[in-house]
Amino acid sequence: MKPMGPIPAWFAAEEGMLLIGGCGAASLVDEAGDTPLFVYDMDIVGAQVRRFRSAMPDALHLHYAVKANPYAPLLARMAGLVDGFDIASGGELDMALSAGMAPDHISFAGPGKRNDELEAAIFAGTTIHLESEGEGRRALAAAEKVGKTPRLAVRVNPDFDLKGSGMKMGGGAKPFGVDADRAGALARAMIDAGADWRGWHIFAGSQNLDPAAIIATQSATIALAARLSDEVGMAPPLVNLGGGFGLAYFPGDERLDIRPIGVALDSEMDSLPDILKASEFAIELGRWLVGEAGVYLTRVVDVKTSQGEIFVVVDGGLHHQLAASGNFGTVVRRNYPIAIANRFGAETAPDPVTVVGCLCTPIDRLGDKVALPPVQEGDLVAIFLAGAYGASASPSAFLGHPSPRELLLG
Ligand SMILES: Cc1ncc(COP(=O)(O)O)c(C=O)c1O
Repeated sequence: MKPMGPIPAWFAAEEGMLLIGGCGAASLVDEAGDTPLFVYDMDIVGAQVRRFRSAMPDALHLHYAVKANPYAPLLARMAGLVDGFDIASGGELDMALSAGMAPDHISFAGPGKRNDELEAAIFAGTTIHLESEGEGRRALAAAEKVGKTPRLAVRVNPDFDLKGSGMKMGGGAKPFGVDADRAGALARAMIDAGADWRGWHIFAGSQNLDPAAIIATQSATIALAARLSDEVGMAPPLVNLGGGFGLAYFPGDERLDIRPIGVALDSEMDSLPDILKASEFAIELGRWLVGEAGVYLTRVVDVKTSQGEIFVVVDGGLHHQLAASGNFGTVVRRNYPIAIANRFGAETAPDPVTVVGCLCTPIDRLGDKVALPPVQEGDLVAIFLAGAYGASASPSAFLGHPSPRELLLG
């Protein structure tokens, strides 16, 4: 048997049926029409936003990284809950605008922005986080073409990383941002060219569960933003401190306590270097806001044995929930929290089972030798922590299976 990640403590059952947002999993599947299905509970997202607001300094802006979950009904609700959206493509620009987020509260980061994406984003009035000197030149040309003053910030590849992160996005050679020793010169060139200077974006890493590491990185980020601003000789209107708040996906993980991060940030913001005293600050989060709010429901199609091992074959798989198969953002495959939704809390069977998806590839493994109650055809398997990097971060076209359904509650 192999352990699985912790099922979030608030999940409960009624007569053995897992409740999601107060509704039974089977009736949610009926409502949506079929499995596989992602259910997202906005009450959980709302509680997470409140947790953030109560722990963090009042003046700190909260931005949502649309890439985590761009499902349109969810995005429309997010627009009313957070202070800005971080987007990563022209497609996400359209989604963000359709969701009702004000263009001047949208920032566009990510390598490889095409000229047409730059033109659309600058025309709409969003902020471009420049990833290179070349992109700076192309942004100025795009602005000229659409007849707008571009709102430009520089994304800095910091000279440090976020220790212990699932995904390192800074420190060392990276395709993201401009190395810290060249970021000041790029900012100065953009200001001299007449851009509307917006400030710095310093994103050092993602999926971190260690408050001390996040605190140390935020402190280093503020120091770097001050140093670069002094070099440029201009105060940044906004410093985007990145994010990195992680989720407890795997065995042994504990939920991140953000309160010490808020306390440390409060004292950082009370004693800011002079050049940052009038600046605004933002944190940009994806998974931490929406990940726990999602459950992926998939139905058991077959239960079979091979050489003594029991395989539970479901109608979903890595084409919808790649991360749970261990092929998105992790080096070693570990089990996400998983349950039989229609036998939630029941005693586990003596033999572990391996839950596999319906794709004809050995990597389509959703639960490896997990302890579950006895499983039958037709049962509903629930995979938790599926609200971020699920439907939109999985290869849904692979093997021609249908796309998953999605349902928003609350
Ligand atoms: C620039 C940027 N912002 C935000 C995020 C969101 O990260 P997370 O979902 O871990 O909060 C990412 C993730 O890769 C990113 O690259």
